[in-house]
Amino acid sequence: MRIIGHRGAPGYAPENTLESFELAIRQGVPVIELDVHQCASGELVVIHDERVDRTTNGKGLVAEMTLDELKNLDAGNGNQVPTLEEVLEAVDRRVKINIEIKGRKVAQPLAEMLSKFMFEKEWNPNYFYVSSFDHRQLKQFHSLLPRVRIGVLYEIFPFNYQKLAREMNAFSINFSVDFCEKDLIAGIHKNGLEAWVYTVNEPKIFEKLKAMGVDAVFTNYPDRFLKSN
Ligand code: G3P
Ligand code: MG
Repeated sequence: MRIIGHRGAPGYAPENTLESFELAIRQGVPVIELDVHQCASGELVVIHDERVDRTTNGKGLVAEMTLDELKNLDAGNGNQVPTLEEVLEAVDRRVKINIEIKGRKVAQPLAEMLSKFMFEKEWNPNYFYVSSFDHRQLKQFHSLLPRVRIGVLYEIFPFNYQKLAREMNAFSINFSVDFCEKDLIAGIHKNGLEAWVYTVNEPKIFEKLKAMGVDAVFTNYPDRFLKSN
């Protein structure tokens, strides 16, 4: 089972910061996950919420702040809010990156950014996974850059969840540990998809998921699982 550093290793370092991603990589994850919004000056920035309030010392909506304004904030331990480009450059293919589209109107600039890395810098598209709860943006992204694998995120499972994922030509279905059952995993596999589960921090739960055949888990404490896996 693959271990994904959920927002890096936020059990130990501020989430979605370069420090957190570096720590997750040092702990040995094969994949890190991060969340992306577009800020007022157009750059894609790595932050979870639509507001900066919870994770920085500032206040306000990411979509209404320029990159300069965001860069003046402290995202914890003196870290800045990173741009997606900064994270891609810093990680530089040491691990794969699951980019979660969080904000509005991210699909197009994200496809442009990843195209730049794939076609100008010749990065293999397999370094990226793109996922979102916003299936319209996911579909848009996929039509712009079909070589990048996508994961359909579900907060709850709609009746036709398999059909939707197949129509989107998805690689994985990503969902909360609260919904994880053996039959569900078997059904996902039957459809040729992987099952990725968030957020798993307890070793006991991890063992249960492993027995069910889950393919990957997102965790805030990568080191807890990398030794035993
Ligand atoms: O992609 C898995 C997980 O990150 C989805 O939920 O709220 O942590 O972004 P959230
Ligand atoms: Mg996320």
